[in-house]
Amino acid sequence: MLGLKLPTDPRWVNIVEKNIEEILTDHAYCEQKAASMAISLIIGFPEKSELVKEMIALSREEMGHFNMVHEKILERGWILGRERKDEYVIELMKFFPKGGSRETHLVHKLLYAALIEARSCERFRLLSEEINDKELADFYGKLMASEANHYTMFLKFARKYGERTVVDEKWQQLLEYEAELMKGLGKKETMHG
Ligand SMILES: [Fe+2]
Ligand SMILES: [Fe+2]
Repeated sequence: MLGLKLPTDPRWVNIVEKNIEEILTDHAYCEQKAASMAISLIIGFPEKSELVKEMIALSREEMGHFNMVHEKILERGWILGRERKDEYVIELMKFFPKGGSRETHLVHKLLYAALIEARSCERFRLLSEEINDKELADFYGKLMASEANHYTMFLKFARKYGERTVVDEKWQQLLEYEAELMKGLGKKETMHG
């Protein structure tokens, strides 16, 4: 599914289920970070008009998701806590070497975004299918549907602004690296943990 090379261990849901407040807190920040990633692409690459247009729409959509998760937190009588560190994203973003041309930097950013979207979508699907809390299962089912085209959009832009064969090769390498990373994850009650 989604090109990912290693599925998440379904037992991750059992860990998540024991601490709904924690997963919702972490998830809320994932949505906010997705919105700020879209905005950072606008700031960094204002001349890419098609990208700018899509990133405006995406930042709005992701802030809409943030709002939905925030409402869920309030409905359950909690208050949004502090941001959790996302070790997965930190490790993932070590893959491509720093430096290179501006275009290369753009392609790398787009590929990271594509992968984070794909893995998040996979985690949403798992939650929608496996979590016992019916209300949250429905919630994640709906979110998964609206996230599903984000990863393909980022991949499409990477192929548009980079050289196709180079981009495809980098994407495969990143997928393999991510699968290795994933072997040590699936053990924490965070969206990518
Ligand atoms: Fe989202
Ligand atoms: Fe997304």
